[in-house]
Amino acid sequence: MKRIVMTLAAVLFATSAYADGAAVYAAKCKMCHGAAGEGAKMAGAVKGKAAADVKKAITAGIPAAGGKKEMKPVKIDAADADAVAAFVAGLK
Ligand code: HEC
Repeated sequence: MKRIVMTLAAVLFATSAYADGAAVYAAKCKMCHGAAGEGAKMAGAVKGKAAADVKKAITAGIPAAGGKKEMKPVKIDAADADAVAAFVAGLK
């Protein structure tokens, strides 16, 4: 029983440590999209975008269009992508 509890605690800790959308955003997106998703020199605003679109941008990238630069796919694991997509979608 004790072992099961320890394992569960380890899993929960690992999940929260890795799936912190705000932390992933700060590390992987902020430099191009601004601290609060408001847009910056490199790229436009992303705040409030649908999570599914954000996830697609992360995994597939965004092609250059209409004078805007391209975004290359960002290499992060699926849990981080989901967490950061939810975080961006919730930004106002
Ligand atoms: C090296 C710079 C760079 C980084 C890092 C970056 N992006 Fe982008 N992103 C761009 C560019 C350039 C575009 C396309 C042009 C634009 O939307 O301004 C773009 C477009 C997007 C779009 C589509 C916006 C739209 O209007 O449809 C989303 C969503 C997005 N990025 C999310 C993210 C997320 C989430 C991360 C972090 C995991 C991230 N980006 C990291 C440069 C970057």
